[in-house]
Amino acid sequence: MNVALLGIPMDLGAGRRGVDMGPSALRNAHLAGALRALGHTVTDLGDVGVALPESVDKLIEGGLVFLTPIQEACAAAAERVAALGPDVFPLTIGGDHSVSMGTVTGNALRLAPGGGRLGLIWVDAHTDYNTPDSSPSGNIHGMPVAHLTGLGDTRLTGLGGGWHMRPEDIVMIGIRSVDPHERELLREAGIKAYTMKDVDQLGITRIHEETLERLSGVQGLHVSFDADALDPAVCPGVGTPVPGGLTYREGHLLMELLSESGRVTSMDIVEVNPILDAHNQTAEVMVGMAASLLGQRIL
Ligand code: ARG
Ligand code: MN
Ligand code: MN
Ligand code: MN
Repeated sequence: MNVALLGIPMDLGAGRRGVDMGPSALRNAHLAGALRALGHTVTDLGDVGVALPESVDKLIEGGLVFLTPIQEACAAAAERVAALGPDVFPLTIGGDHSVSMGTVTGNALRLAPGGGRLGLIWVDAHTDYNTPDSSPSGNIHGMPVAHLTGLGDTRLTGLGGGWHMRPEDIVMIGIRSVDPHERELLREAGIKAYTMKDVDQLGITRIHEETLERLSGVQGLHVSFDADALDPAVCPGVGTPVPGGLTYREGHLLMELLSESGRVTSMDIVEVNPILDAHNQTAEVMVGMAASLLGQRIL
């Protein structure tokens, strides 16, 4: 497969600094080499330009912190991804989770002019379904999924022209932290979310089967993997850790099963924060997750 790596070194959407170093941490953990060892052709496209928080005003517009530079970086990421051919597997590396407004939009535009029907598997401790009104923090990394479905600020919902995700084409896995108003919005939208209770009760194998069944009508499948989906003992280098996450093996099993399905067409790795991590453990674990999704097998 032709894998295109694209970094979006952005921490403007998060409450603390450091996820802007995620792309470096992942490259340093030999992301490209691990995928080449699996037989893929890997092209590193470098990084999308992102404004530094120190060089822009921390303007809060309509309840959104750093709206303008985040919108600009997401638009740039969407354009870069959309320009990649249909035979390329884009592996976009963040950055905080607000980058996914750009990457998911870009992948939908890559499928078809105007945006194709893309399925989204959101692997995360959080549902990231806040709107500017429901958000307790104003941090945009808690809002990307809402904006992808067309809810929220028009400058962010406007990414990709008129294209929006269908809520029924989204499945979330690993969920264990949802804000009160966010919960209502999620329910109203009818988005399927597998909580950690569901992971405990059903297991990853059943969740994987149900997810692919539910997303059987889509043209492409994007996995957006927030490192905080995994337990903080496995991935300590994240800005918003929540106890009780996916184990190392649950993460790998999900990636291995998705890989075997042959249906995944793109991936994000986000929220890797190396300054909160003594030995770059989180980036190394996430490189392993990408490798499993792209064909690594135990035997
Ligand atoms: N729900 C919280 C908020 O809206 C935390 C979101 C964390 N999101 C993330 N991508 N780590 O601020
Ligand atoms: Mn997230
Ligand atoms: Mn998260
Ligand atoms: Mn939109």
